[in-house]
Amino acid sequence: MVIKVQWFGHSGFRLDIEGKTVLVDPFLTGNPLASIDPATLPADFILLTHVHGDHLGDSEAIAKRTGATVIGVAEVAGWFSARGIKGHGQNTGGGYQHPFGHVKFVRADHSSSFPDGSYGGVACGIVLTVKDKKLYFAGDTALFSDMKLIGDLGIDTAFLPIGDNFTMGPDDSIQAIQWIRPKRVVPIHYNTWGLLAQDAVAWAQRVQNDTDAQPIVLDPGGTFTIDVQ
Ligand code: NI
Ligand code: MN
Repeated sequence: MVIKVQWFGHSGFRLDIEGKTVLVDPFLTGNPLASIDPATLPADFILLTHVHGDHLGDSEAIAKRTGATVIGVAEVAGWFSARGIKGHGQNTGGGYQHPFGHVKFVRADHSSSFPDGSYGGVACGIVLTVKDKKLYFAGDTALFSDMKLIGDLGIDTAFLPIGDNFTMGPDDSIQAIQWIRPKRVVPIHYNTWGLLAQDAVAWAQRVQNDTDAQPIVLDPGGTFTIDVQ
């Protein structure tokens, strides 16, 4: 089977996994790169790395309309549960087998709070395992040397921020790729606003020159597939 991956722009993704639709950080309303209508997007599960507005995005409205379960750290799941939305709380280091795959929350060096000021727990990365493949959604993060341990898990595809200012930029992302050792790497969290302007083509060239990973630069709305067995 394949996992179909679609990028919304910024850090948002739609994953289609054996008939289940899984959204990651679905920031569509107010996302200058996104052209997908959140009002018609299907969802069975929503994965949130953290709850800054550019990651929480349209999660509440989508979950209310679709009945999707929101998976985040315990404080995030609790915020949704208090609003009548199904929440599944996890926390750093914890994994759980969901119907679409195994979700493990891992460290990220970043902050988190809801746009309404509620405490959002810690920001995390997510390692999603579907059969023989591991996908690493780094979320918003600085470079940190424990990325070597995430690399030891055997990552097929890593989704790494390169926008700088709020997260690691291109230079640190190259070090991250050398530590994570993914087969493929997708740049995220860049060009959404002028503050995050980066040259993804130049970045991809550096990835090819300085790492063993294959860069996959997507256009907003663009897709690729991951074969899993
Ligand atoms: Ni953030
Ligand atoms: Mn962000």
